[in-house]
Amino acid sequence: MDDAERERDRLVSMVWNSYVPHALHSLVSLGIAELLANGAASVERLAEQSGTHAPSLYRLLRLAVSVGVVRLDGELFALTTAGELLCSGVPGSVRNMILRYGNAAERGSWGELNYSVRTGQDAVRHIFGEGFFELLSTHPEQAAIFNETMAEVSRGVVQAMRELDIAWHGRIADVGGGSGALLAGVLAANPQASGLLYDTESGLRDAEASLAAAGVRDRCKIVCGDFFESVPGGCDAYLLKHIVHDWDDERAGMVLKCCRESMTADARLYLIESVVPDDPTAFDAGMLVRDLTMLVNLAGRERTRSEFAQLLAGCGLQLMEVVPLASPGRPYSLLTAIPA
Ligand SMILES: C[S@@+](CC[C@H](N)C(=O)[O-])C[C@H]1O[C@@H](n2cnc3c(N)ncnc32)[C@H](O)[C@@H]1O
Repeated sequence: MDDAERERDRLVSMVWNSYVPHALHSLVSLGIAELLANGAASVERLAEQSGTHAPSLYRLLRLAVSVGVVRLDGELFALTTAGELLCSGVPGSVRNMILRYGNAAERGSWGELNYSVRTGQDAVRHIFGEGFFELLSTHPEQAAIFNETMAEVSRGVVQAMRELDIAWHGRIADVGGGSGALLAGVLAANPQASGLLYDTESGLRDAEASLAAAGVRDRCKIVCGDFFESVPGGCDAYLLKHIVHDWDDERAGMVLKCCRESMTADARLYLIESVVPDDPTAFDAGMLVRDLTMLVNLAGRERTRSEFAQLLAGCGLQLMEVVPLASPGRPYSLLTAIPA
């Protein structure tokens, strides 16, 4: 096989593999993954329990075997270790991520990527006439899946945060903290600290339950508000995970300026974001797919270190350090800034 043939094979595989998340979505949304979590089962039994067509379900399961989420145990299908992550309530679960990104309707904004590349604007607003978070606020089912997807990622980041040499003390604000999975993890590991979770009504919908389940509800205030208008003061640390990448420089700057206005001279601001390398040989496809996802969904962007430094400087903040987090499968970093 010559180089061109090999490259053709690579591109063709890329196209066919792009349908795999749809198959995973079916395994999750038809309830097959949860049924298999109860134990190995025959295709006939699974079809009966899920109300599906056994011969077609067999074909779906056969694909699931080929991508390593299901295995065959004689005549019975069973979940592999990867397959267990399709279920709810397991550490590292990707169930909500699959429900979100494996769903054709959810991928609608990517179908309008050309619009975003031509204009620099978010395809979501172009298609639906409303912004991403406004849409979520009127679609509670989608909001629940989105919030839980973010929480699943945050739980993975918590462990990496524990390994950092940061002495969390005083009050920690999680700005745009959603259901509070990250803040709950930080507070659980730092009994001396208290928290303030700040988000919109839609973002906070699962916050009470999530903070209570982590046993930190009594040490955490929940405040509803708009981070483009103001951010609560009186905190020693301001944590923003995956907030800045949602927005273009103008909108991200508005949020950071609100944080800066509320910060005392010795307060710290921490961003958890992907940092796009300057070196093209270090480009990461996953990170750059997320970059374009931010573009089509919110006209947001992933940034390089110097872009972060410039954005922060324009908001009266000085970038002090960037520390890569050991978050499996996700190249995130913790960026620390202080008032300039
Ligand atoms: C990408 S999510 C990140 C959530 C959380 N920080 C995490 O990483 O798990 C963005 C968050 O910003 C919140 N948000 C969006 N617009 C907001 C606004 N105007 N004011 C406050 N929060 C907002 C959303 O509700 C959502 O929880």
